[in-house]
Amino acid sequence: MGAGASAHKALWENASQNDLNDFVKGLSKEEAAKLAAALQARHVAAPLGIREMSALHATHSFNASKEIPRQVVKDILEGLRSVPSSANTQPWTIVVVQGATRKLLSEKIVAKFDAGEQGAALYADLPKDMPARMQKAVDAYAKEYDAFLGDDKAKLRKGCEFFGAPLHLVVCAPKGPCLEESPPVDGVFLDMGSAMTAMSFSAFDLGLGVHPQFSLAKYDGIYKEVLKEKMPDDHFVICGLSVGYLENDQDPRKTPGFVPSKLSVDDTTRWVNCDAEWLKTHGDAVTGNSEHGLKHLVHSRHCSHTLDTPRPVPYDFLASILRLGRFTARGGGTRF
Ligand SMILES: Cc1cc2nc3c(=O)[nH]c(=O)nc-3n(C[C@H](O)[C@H](O)[C@H](O)COP(=O)(O)O)c2cc1C
Repeated sequence: MGAGASAHKALWENASQNDLNDFVKGLSKEEAAKLAAALQARHVAAPLGIREMSALHATHSFNASKEIPRQVVKDILEGLRSVPSSANTQPWTIVVVQGATRKLLSEKIVAKFDAGEQGAALYADLPKDMPARMQKAVDAYAKEYDAFLGDDKAKLRKGCEFFGAPLHLVVCAPKGPCLEESPPVDGVFLDMGSAMTAMSFSAFDLGLGVHPQFSLAKYDGIYKEVLKEKMPDDHFVICGLSVGYLENDQDPRKTPGFVPSKLSVDDTTRWVNCDAEWLKTHGDAVTGNSEHGLKHLVHSRHCSHTLDTPRPVPYDFLASILRLGRFTARGGGTRF
């Protein structure tokens, strides 16, 4: 390798996500197309499940008039059954809301939004003092989202209309185990996150878009008023998950709409006790077989109780798993 090439390599290896964003923005249309094709070729080498997971993004505009068949809703909920939870507690209750009740629920939330009332927040939307790396991600997200919204600030209101999604899944948690105990970090919240992710991937695999909405937890009172006895009194709303088909039957895996940038694997990973030579190995080691769809993977997942400890996991396997963490949805674009 010549001196120029190794300088180039060093530059790339040290590039931050922002450097890469700036680089891509500076390309001509032709150059960008060439780069996209090259990346696509690399991406295609990844197993199918990983590729599908990387494609999951929140949908910002649903087809409001295309109803979701009952069997499809059941399939999404079936995907939830195999989710791991602390001591297998499965603490979630999902309230399925569609049709006239969904309309009423959204109207009441919109009215509160229009009146400037945010409801009683059970917890702040985002932590106050975030590590610099998280703050950077949130700031970048705010900027990108602002550019996406353009002049149409009314689009913010669309969240209260569930982005037009005909199906709204209300993810509820029991009071007590999570709200009133200290320390405030409780396993129940982890379980709820897993539940949301599993339902999102199941829906996605069935060709539906999803949008998780933590901010709706503020309207717990409205949910209780509208859903009455279907909304367990001793529970509270953790998150809304709006689900629906996309406009013009677009495939959410191919047309994500708004795609915020993500931190790099190294931004969110600390490599400990990893052999320096092993860390350097890159290449074509990703050979994992994944001919199954995502829904199959979600349904068939179980914790492994016997592991072959001496057998090392190849760097590329691990890196590709960690890379997936960059694509999971999260509140406000944060990454803890
Ligand atoms: C737990 C959780 C809560 C979220 N809450 C909201 C929300 O209240 N409002 C909203 O517009 N988006 C919400 N989102 C969507 C995130 O903003 C979005 O997932 C993130 O910016 C990454 O974008 P992507 O899903 O397109 O990759 C939430 C996502 C998660 C996982």
